[in-house]
Amino acid sequence: MKFKKKILCIGAGYVGGPSMAMIAYKCPDCRITVVDTNPDRIDAWNSEDLPVYEPGLDKIVKITRGKNLFFTKDIENQIKENDIIFVSVNTPTKTYGAGADMAADLQYWEKTARQILKHSRSSKIVIEKSTLPVKTALAMEKILASAKGKIKFDVLSNPEFMAEGTAISDLENPDRVLIGSHETKSGLKARAELIEIYAQWIPLRKIITSNIWSSELSKLVANAFLAQRVSSINSISALCEKTDADISEVAKAVGMDSRIGDKFLRAGIGFGGSCFKKDILNLVYLCSYYGLQEVAAYWESVVKINEYQQERFMANILNSMFSTLAGKKICILGFAFKADTGDTRESPAIYISQKLLAEHAEVIISDPKALKNAAIDLDGIKGNVKYIEDPYRAVAGCHAIAILTDWNLYRNLDFQKIYNSMVKPAFIFDGRNIIDHKKCFSIGFNVYPIGKPALSHFKN
Ligand SMILES: NC(=O)c1ccc[n+]([C@@H]2O[C@H](COP(=O)([O-])OP(=O)(O)OC[C@H]3O[C@@H](n4cnc5c(N)ncnc54)[C@H](O)[C@@H]3O)[C@@H](O)[C@H]2O)c1
Repeated sequence: MKFKKKILCIGAGYVGGPSMAMIAYKCPDCRITVVDTNPDRIDAWNSEDLPVYEPGLDKIVKITRGKNLFFTKDIENQIKENDIIFVSVNTPTKTYGAGADMAADLQYWEKTARQILKHSRSSKIVIEKSTLPVKTALAMEKILASAKGKIKFDVLSNPEFMAEGTAISDLENPDRVLIGSHETKSGLKARAELIEIYAQWIPLRKIITSNIWSSELSKLVANAFLAQRVSSINSISALCEKTDADISEVAKAVGMDSRIGDKFLRAGIGFGGSCFKKDILNLVYLCSYYGLQEVAAYWESVVKINEYQQERFMANILNSMFSTLAGKKICILGFAFKADTGDTRESPAIYISQKLLAEHAEVIISDPKALKNAAIDLDGIKGNVKYIEDPYRAVAGCHAIAILTDWNLYRNLDFQKIYNSMVKPAFIFDGRNIIDHKKCFSIGFNVYPIGKPALSHFKN
């Protein structure tokens, strides 16, 4: 079959895999190839056991793989063969040198630019899909401008707004698709080419365009605003716990104001995931770089509140359980950073597990999708850890439960059965406010929600 467009994606991760699978699914006249330097990832994409868990992903990969969606390790030839290249490599926080613990580490990004330059034999459109500091496209253009002969590259910014756990529905029906380009003749032509792809399933009114710098910055700002909402409500949850106000009631009253809205107003143990923290730190670094210290401090406080929320949760466990956890069995229900994903990057569960182990507690971790990653995260940490997928088996014989991921499964557990199998007095620390606290209290649990009065059977 002759394909209308030949598209390559460099980086087969949580973004590259699902986003390209969606393009392949919606654009049968396009051939999409996804490459990665990690051969195990490519093997997994070609297997029955995909490297990323997302509801609905299996189905669309099954329909498209081998027809117009291909995963391969041959990066060089694929760069030669394709005309449109998405770059979706990781851009973690830098851990060394200038900007350590703040700035984005652009080494993978720059290597990719140089690879594209080295192996290209014809002109191409290069699209930033990774989240990048504003003005990164300029660096990419400078590298690519050294191409010999008539080869030209047009760089576009097309940040990905999907969220893990809902990636497939977000990709299928996004709030918007943003395309940043130069307002030059070739920039506009490249932009039109990308619009043509998305327009096959996304209404034109949702495909918005801007200059490249606005596009790059919008992604960082969108993540910063989402994280800021979480930290705002979490900061108020601390005040609720001191004043007998109830954070769910406050959030409901505040969120019904149409100027504020009710999304992202659920108090909990704090945000995790690979993006929020790194993108805010990246924003903080950019602000400092441009001498905007007050702005930098404002955004940095969002990360600080997130850390504070996790510290508070841990302190609450320790204080409520008579200031000693040594030898006690604590079951962590949920290790993924959010429901419906197996991703544990920056999950609050990592911090809580480490702290529990430091207190010499025995930690039993349960999760329907994230146990493999949990074992990698806690590898080498001293202490007694067990991994048990079945929540009923996991909690049996435990002194306390800490709910750290909002998996639906945990909402519907038989807490009477769980209570009967635990050591008494039994404790539940609900880090996501997802269970029926009053019911659990009446069963006999001592219940510690976030931002609500504790329900304890102890006098005083
Ligand atoms: N995960 C999310 O929910 C999400 C959402 C929106 C945007 N983003 C952004 O998208 C980017 C990718 O995120 P991710 O979660 O998919 O990361 P990831 O770590 O899951 O995937 C990145 C992949 O790129 C590969 N890679 C690195 N250098 C390479 C090279 N030179 N050639 C080929 N492959 C290379 C890595 O091996 C890895 O498999 C990041 O910038 C992230 O901030 C992520």
